[in-house]
Amino acid sequence: MTTTRPTFDEFLAWLEAGRAHGQVHFDDTQQCWQVLGHPEAVEVLSDPTAFSSDLTALQPEQDDLALFQRGNIVRMDPPQHRKLRTLVSQAFTPRVVADLEPRIAELTDELLDQTGERFDLIDALAYPLPVIVIAELLGIPVSDRGLFRTWADALLGQDVDPDRTVREASDQAMAAVAPTMREMNAYFLDHIRSRRATPGHDLTSKLVQAEVDGNRLADEEIIGFVGLLLIAGHITTTATLGNSVVSFQDNPDAVTEVRADPTLLPAAIEEVLRVRTPFPRLGRITTAETEVAGVRIPAGQVVLPWLTAANRDERVFPEPHRFDIHRRPNPHLTFGHGIHFCLGAPLARLEARVALRLLLERYRDIEVAGGEPVEHRNPWTMVAVSRLPLEVRAA
Ligand code: HEM
Repeated sequence: MTTTRPTFDEFLAWLEAGRAHGQVHFDDTQQCWQVLGHPEAVEVLSDPTAFSSDLTALQPEQDDLALFQRGNIVRMDPPQHRKLRTLVSQAFTPRVVADLEPRIAELTDELLDQTGERFDLIDALAYPLPVIVIAELLGIPVSDRGLFRTWADALLGQDVDPDRTVREASDQAMAAVAPTMREMNAYFLDHIRSRRATPGHDLTSKLVQAEVDGNRLADEEIIGFVGLLLIAGHITTTATLGNSVVSFQDNPDAVTEVRADPTLLPAAIEEVLRVRTPFPRLGRITTAETEVAGVRIPAGQVVLPWLTAANRDERVFPEPHRFDIHRRPNPHLTFGHGIHFCLGAPLARLEARVALRLLLERYRDIEVAGGEPVEHRNPWTMVAVSRLPLEVRAA
């Protein structure tokens, strides 16, 4: 691939061309192992002993950034991972998430009340809704949401160069995001200290008071987790709301069906998550020589399970490129698999369901506005639109 900002279709074509080298193969250019098949990705993600999530070896030594990584649950291996996961999963039980439904509906209505017949879906709803929900959960000021958007844009705004090795690309990305991460560190440290001094009922206060095996979490451990939640807790949901409207625009028959039978909406959202997977790939590193689907991989190698490719593996999904809201089962890997399976999946699904239901109820027509560009992010980093101008007609 020659361009550093491919379109989504070019990106898909690159992944499909990769399958010719095997569902698991070594990529000479990127100097890593590409895992494209669904069962193969499941195999990698099911074995945290052989495939470590701790990618710090790939990153340049920077003490202050290491602090941020200390509480980053996504990068932890067992047994450390289990301890933190047990603690934080209590904050995301199905009950806690279900209780958020009325607030999500209220926020969606309030945000849509402020729009007219033409608005940008990302600015008006897809960005503010999940960011307000997560900021309220964490007890951080919703009024700082402009700042969170700047951070998210800085973290996502990189162009990944597929012609570099993964190590070079990682160095380049870390250098680019370091100032943002330092700013986030300082912001969260302030927030955590203030909650330690005056606890409230929010998740940050719970983390500050929580004990794991008799020990309190250190400020630095909480920073990593809270920072991850704030960013991971909204960018992917923002992406999913935008991706849903793009998929609906491309598949008008599906929308007609969902309007006629709203019980089809959850399955339609699962299909959006499959065909437009927000996080295109995960990363692991081998701890010892190992095998995936009979392919031998030496120790210390970077292994990249491509969720986008696994979600279009025709051995698991017949006619994988077709958008089909009746696909059952739909075992997509969009939320990952194994011990790191997305903690926020129930919340993301609930937000998508409530927001899309209310959009469809409120407007009888939703069209992407002609003549105004839809802006796509770089699909190597995130499959999402950053601008989505709409024209709507009230029901
Ligand atoms: C983990 C995707 C929404 C919090 C993950 C992983 C994926 C993912 C693929 C696994 C990472 C790995 O194995 O290396 C998504 C997608 C979302 C979404 C596609 C929306 C459509 C959310 C939300 C939250 C959240 C709303 C929080 C409110 C987390 C956390 C982890 C995680 C804390 C780490 C879990 C662990 O390491 O044990 N997510 N996520 N995510 N996600 Fe999500």
